[in-house]
Amino acid sequence: MAIFKKKPEPELSLADIILPEHVGIIMDGNGRWAKKRGLPRSAGHTAGAQTFRKIVRYCSNIGIKYLTVYAFSTENWRRPNDEVSALMRLFKDYLTEALSDFKDDSIVIHFIGDRNAFSDELHELMDDNEEISKDRDGMVLNLAMNYGGRAELVSAVREIAAKAASGELDPSSIDEQMISDHLYTKGQPDPDLIIRPSGENRTSNFLLWQSAYAEYVIMDVLWPDFKEKDMDAALIEYAKRNRRFGGV
Ligand code: FPP
Repeated sequence: MAIFKKKPEPELSLADIILPEHVGIIMDGNGRWAKKRGLPRSAGHTAGAQTFRKIVRYCSNIGIKYLTVYAFSTENWRRPNDEVSALMRLFKDYLTEALSDFKDDSIVIHFIGDRNAFSDELHELMDDNEEISKDRDGMVLNLAMNYGGRAELVSAVREIAAKAASGELDPSSIDEQMISDHLYTKGQPDPDLIIRPSGENRTSNFLLWQSAYAEYVIMDVLWPDFKEKDMDAALIEYAKRNRRFGGV
């Protein structure tokens, strides 16, 4: 995966292209952003949370149907306690704000990942946000929290195996669709485009199954610096790719 550095061609704008239906973003580079400024890593996450708010709003406004953001991985618990606590505070602030301020919003909030590891308070905020937004008709925002692609597959395999053991299903009927239907994203289209700011060429356990045919756009900008124009550049780069899904 090569780093994408090109500027969008001036003659192309969002009005000229077909938008992807589902976009994933690995919000990377908060720590480096803070380090460059001599600030604690938590300051990078605070700035990253502001970028997250801006880009969610932008994606909803331009007509993206599904947006999945990687907010906290199953591996992120290994970070120092103060950094994990700072992230939990940011999640709490956003989810509290989403409940109180976004009553007329059209965005459907959905969580992917194992929410049992979070505090009761956060767990309840997650449940309440899903409940209050579930009948809306706008963009689906998947917040990947305590998410790992491998853990998601393990959980799907366990559920399917339990059904096979109880006789509810015949193992020979297990197919790709059945696996998709046991993931946190069941019922949603697979991501078309995955954007990774900060220049790292890794998937980092993000949407492992669902990203089989996704286009990756790696960008040389740290997440807190990511702007609407960077989103446009990624969307335009995506529109120029020739997706063949294994065909010719
Ligand atoms: C990766 O950057 C980023 C994270 C582990 C956290 C992402 C979280 C946010 C952007 C805040 C989201 C807030 C809400 C409200 C959803 P890094 O810290 O690994 O950066 P580095 O690679 O430069 O160290």
